Amino acid sequence: MAGFRRLSRRGFLLGACAAAVGGPAAYGQGHAMRRIAPNRASDSFNPDVELELICKCDVKSILTGRPTRVWRYVGNLIRGPQNALTELPETYLGPLLRFAAGQKVRIRLRNELPEATITHWHGLHVPMLMDGHPITAIDPGETYVYEFEIRNRAGMHFYHPHTHEATATQVYHGLAGAIIIEDEEERALGLPSGEFEIPLVIQDRSFDDDNQLAYAGDMHTSMFGFYGDRVLVNGRCNFALDVASRPYRLRILNGSNARIYKLCWDDRTPLTVIGVDGGLLEQPETRPYVMLAPAERVDLLVDFSGRRQGSKLTMLSGEFYGLIPPMAQRMMGSELGMGAEFPLFTAKVTKASSDTWKLPAKLSTIKRFRNEQIANLDDPIPIAITMAGMAMLLNGRPYDHDDIQPRERIPVDTAQLIEIFSERGDTGMAHMGMMGGHMMCRGMSGMRMMRSRMGGMGMGMGGGMMGMMSMAHPIHLHGQQFEIVERSFDGDENAYDSIRYGFIDSGLKDTVLVAPGECVRIVKPFSDFKGRFMYHCHNLEHEDAGMMREFSVE
Ligand code: C2O
Ligand code: CU
Ligand code: CU
Repeated sequence: MAGFRRLSRRGFLLGACAAAVGGPAAYGQGHAMRRIAPNRASDSFNPDVELELICKCDVKSILTGRPTRVWRYVGNLIRGPQNALTELPETYLGPLLRFAAGQKVRIRLRNELPEATITHWHGLHVPMLMDGHPITAIDPGETYVYEFEIRNRAGMHFYHPHTHEATATQVYHGLAGAIIIEDEEERALGLPSGEFEIPLVIQDRSFDDDNQLAYAGDMHTSMFGFYGDRVLVNGRCNFALDVASRPYRLRILNGSNARIYKLCWDDRTPLTVIGVDGGLLEQPETRPYVMLAPAERVDLLVDFSGRRQGSKLTMLSGEFYGLIPPMAQRMMGSELGMGAEFPLFTAKVTKASSDTWKLPAKLSTIKRFRNEQIANLDDPIPIAITMAGMAMLLNGRPYDHDDIQPRERIPVDTAQLIEIFSERGDTGMAHMGMMGGHMMCRGMSGMRMMRSRMGGMGMGMGGGMMGMMSMAHPIHLHGQQFEIVERSFDGDENAYDSIRYGFIDSGLKDTVLVAPGECVRIVKPFSDFKGRFMYHCHNLEHEDAGMMREFSVE
């Protein structure tokens, strides 16, 4: 079994600049996507920052020996502060973009790839036509002009393609980058900055014998997502940081297609978490480990003070269970199994420092919605996740741009309660749920009711399918950040114990990991902009296979 993946890997290799076809998109819904004409610069928009981002084919040295053909973002600053665009050293990743709250930003995206693409600013609150919606995709040779104002508070975000059925392959070949937003509230804290603030983008990749990126476009990948056999941090293998014995701010983004990490230090020093997707927490939290699913971010304050020169600390992904079916885990082999322990990067103390900066007890204030401000307190909008064979569905339906369902229409400037959970059982269950018109978990009692209708967990056909197919899904909603108000669980407690202390639910989020057996309630505002905003699984293979829908904000 261990050799299954290697044998079945159909050696999808990227030609010098060939189109990235042949990935799991082949298993997707195959719907044609209508397009609109590329947006142009408007004379009435006066940008504080203007830059050009070119999507192009390139080569980069990643492993020793032959360089690797990649696709990447190359940036040029046209106007604005110098720090708006900085290159990370020796990487295929796009430049780090740094904006300030309130700035007006113009980005000219030019497509020099052999296929259509479009870029999404994951985490930013922007209008639909600035959001990288697949209908705005541009063909080779075209330019799309984005113009938007930074409405977010301080935080770290993620830009990546959002091309219809080609997001996974385009990200995989290198199109990804980080965005940092700064604001006054955060600046006043005097957090470690400059060389002491380090963005770290974690991804996993596989290479063939010729050092080229290998992507298995097989059924296993399409169902469970892509899992590489090497970890890259900021596009580099065996990533090591040289640090001084003082506090650092490590801003970590999981840029992987599907892999979930359990961040922990090898000497079990607890992690001090100061922020997540949507920016700073109200106060720091100390955790033994942090779970980080695709697209999630975590902001860590790491104090190396008192550590000897020459000492090392390694960030691991620790052991965990229950986020992927055991069968799928076995097929992945042992090199870098999901849930196995392996190193991510190392910090080496190479300099002494006498900096004695102390982390403040209070970091920020998060405005939370009161019950009276929630439009649908008694009637949450469901996001039911279904995986049934090749069918990847939300609320029983695959992605389609013109298929808005009644519960997907949302009045602008409202805050909505949303309930996210995995459907138990097979497709039969999904239909049963839909026909009843009550697809929601309604606390745990609802879950139990659904289960007993299926003949009990682990019994009968439904139960059997459930065990085989249930996996965790990182669910992402475009637009404004949301609050996680409740997480309930009904399932394998032993497995859950290996992950449950790693969820940071106290901050604002745009992506939430929903484990099998969990029901997660969130409150999300839909302010300022009408239009279509996507919500989807950020396991990119699932997204491309149809596990995506849209809200129509009206
Ligand atoms: Cu990071 Cu819709 O995606
Ligand atoms: Cu997004
Ligand atoms: Cu998924």
